[in-house]
Amino acid sequence: MTITFIGHGYVGLVTAAVFSDFGNKVYVIGHTKEKVDNLNRGIIPIYEPGLAEMVKKNVDAGRLTFTLDYDPAIPESEIVFIAVGTPPQKTGDAELSTVFEVATSLAKSLKSHTVVATKSTVPVGTNKRIAKLIEENKPANATFEIASVPEFLREGTAIDDTLHPDRVVIGTESDEAREKLVELHKPIDAPFVHVNLETAELIKYAANSFLATKISYANAIAKLSEVVGADGLRVLDGIGIDKRIGRSFLYPGVGYGGSCFPKDVKALISIAGDHDYDFALLDQVEEINKQAKRDIVRKARKILGDMRDKKIAVFGLAFKPNTDDMRDAPSIDIIELLKQEGVSISAFDPKAKETAQKVISDIEFADSMEQAVKDADLLLVLTDWNEFKEADLEKIKEQMREPNIIDGRNIYDPDKAKELGFSYIGVGR
Ligand code: UDX
Repeated sequence: MTITFIGHGYVGLVTAAVFSDFGNKVYVIGHTKEKVDNLNRGIIPIYEPGLAEMVKKNVDAGRLTFTLDYDPAIPESEIVFIAVGTPPQKTGDAELSTVFEVATSLAKSLKSHTVVATKSTVPVGTNKRIAKLIEENKPANATFEIASVPEFLREGTAIDDTLHPDRVVIGTESDEAREKLVELHKPIDAPFVHVNLETAELIKYAANSFLATKISYANAIAKLSEVVGADGLRVLDGIGIDKRIGRSFLYPGVGYGGSCFPKDVKALISIAGDHDYDFALLDQVEEINKQAKRDIVRKARKILGDMRDKKIAVFGLAFKPNTDDMRDAPSIDIIELLKQEGVSISAFDPKAKETAQKVISDIEFADSMEQAVKDADLLLVLTDWNEFKEADLEKIKEQMREPNIIDGRNIYDPDKAKELGFSYIGVGR
């Protein structure tokens, strides 16, 4: 099948690569010449395990082509996916101008019968608006069907998530679009959820907001455990065993970040508000997420007292391991709050140094764990990279001025750290 993706962000690039790997002919439309040229050479703009290899393999095989032009990609394609970004505006609403721009552009290139499927996360009702725009801008003899096919991949495990998702959601009122999309997704072994457009749109926000709620619940239980003297991680183990609750996404830490949870929680609050429903639960989810970040600073103050002239070594800047993505990374807010206390910071991240330098200033960006911890008064773990888990704490202690650890991701064994002479504070422990 010949298909097109408009947009080569995380979602567009990964799904395009995977569908070309299945043997389809895939066009990806971008809007920056330099990026498109690089992608055609197999150079990808993000760090995602396995992705560069998959892109290169399929570009070389002639199945995957990056282009700036809608023609011949759109007229040749049976399915066109809209996969452009929908970043949050100041109001919390998703910014939809790019989605509408590309819908208008693709409409003009439609020649025959085409399925237009939206992968971008868009508020309820947007696909109907997209359909209206296409109808208004397409040539008179072209026909199309509209569908919403939200994406659930996670960064760091994006290829595996696309190959083995928990479900494929297909939202459409058109039998023909449904059949085409099922055919395309056939190599993927997952249950199909067939729903209408609005349901598919809401499933995506409801899923991400529920996962964010689980994380905030875990952070709240962790906080409470610290004050009542319970072991928060054992509490969460204890409840997570219950299949109705489940253990995953119940890990307390420095708060959730990334390109999805913060924006989708905000957008769902806003969607609810637009329909006169006050989604107060999600206001609290956001508030607890802010508290989790502030709490790390409170703990640093507790250990260091006056933080002026003190040095903190930060392990991890990316919002999660195996990515260089800094979008809404908790490290940004936490480092900002620490800087206000007058502390000096040396931070090391195995992959996110360059991306972090664009959003964080006035700190040292170390090139190794050793460089970061040199003469530090406190080691603060913000991202759970494997490299940090495997670090030799004994050596680290030798290089530090004071042996203090705040383990924002609970990656170290507190007893072991204490045995080595560290003063250790985790989250909920
Ligand atoms: C998320 C969704 O999981 C995915 O389905 C959707 O398509 C996009 O958004 P992603 O943002 O890549 O994926 O990362 P995810 O692994 O979900 O983690 C999000 C944030 O939550 C990270 O900051 C992570 O550290 C944090 N997190 C996750 C916790 O703090 N505790 C947990 O138990 C799980």
